[in-house]
Amino acid sequence: MRAVSVVPGRPETATVEERPDPAPAEGAILVDGLLMGVCGTDVEIAKDGYGVPPSGGRTLVLGHESLGRVREAPPDSGFAAGDLVAGVVRRPDGCAACQDDQWDMCLTGDYVERGIKGADGYGATAWRTDPKFLVKLDPTLGDLGVLLEPTSVVAKAWEQVDRIGRRAYWAPRTALVTGPGPIGQLAALLGIQRGLDVTVVGRSPDGIKPELIRALGATYTTQKVPELDLRPDVVIECTGVGQLVYDCVEKAGPNAVVALVGIEADESTVPAALTKLNKEMVLENKVAFGSVNAALRHYAQAADALANADRDWLGRLITRRVPLASWTDALGKGRDDVKVVVDLQA
Ligand code: BGC
Repeated sequence: MRAVSVVPGRPETATVEERPDPAPAEGAILVDGLLMGVCGTDVEIAKDGYGVPPSGGRTLVLGHESLGRVREAPPDSGFAAGDLVAGVVRRPDGCAACQDDQWDMCLTGDYVERGIKGADGYGATAWRTDPKFLVKLDPTLGDLGVLLEPTSVVAKAWEQVDRIGRRAYWAPRTALVTGPGPIGQLAALLGIQRGLDVTVVGRSPDGIKPELIRALGATYTTQKVPELDLRPDVVIECTGVGQLVYDCVEKAGPNAVVALVGIEADESTVPAALTKLNKEMVLENKVAFGSVNAALRHYAQAADALANADRDWLGRLITRRVPLASWTDALGKGRDDVKVVVDLQA
């Protein structure tokens, strides 16, 4: 098989490797890799050294956003040859949360993430996994199934917003999303699917990102968060930029729930009026929480969200398709790129 690999932090080592097909010990299900989605995490792995190769190795096969077709599956596995599938990113460790299949809430940080931390990813023409970590997709989704993993991350954030919101009186009407990248677009989609008025804040005045947001029936604006004439019930903050995080919590309305789903590599300090912010959070019962990764149920929620979405709209999210041989082109993003995918079979 062929696989996309890199020594984390050394982008000049990014290459296509020839490797033997994965051994059955790596999982009962053998999958032909079709597509790999590329996100900011892959870029951080290649350029900033965020990832961790499998123990004993220096290179890491990338690819945590996957799409594949089952080549071989045992009869009792719940899968059959030809199934369209995507792999789950995280593998549990021995902690109580992971042992309860809530690996997205791991207590130790010792989890493994395929394509990110301690295990090779799905960016390969063939990969294997245990059936427990494989999700079957509606076959009519076709290539759009590569959006399952980023959608699972957003589905988890929305599920947690719903659960936290229901702690008391909860009748949300408005949502604010910061950042119109792939996660922001999918967060807006799920907000619209919940019947909310969604406003998305971005920097580009025009181009595909604002167009996609408007095509959803959401509002797009380049106004700064403090200037918005809105006190949202829900905020999905997708940028991880300190000032925006602060502004979102301040702008959020009474009883609001603010989900923080973005992380930013630049950790420079932002001055913040935290005593004032605290007073507002206390007096208005606001919650801000972090959300990462996804458990199996979130992949199921994501599969439903994709199945109920407009296919043309989902298709427009995939703005570039790069053949395997030149996959490193996918690590550079243009202004009008939303989701870039690598075609593992081309
Ligand atoms: C992935 C998550 C992962 C996180 C942290 C994200 O890009 O989508 O599944 O948990 O990175 O490594």
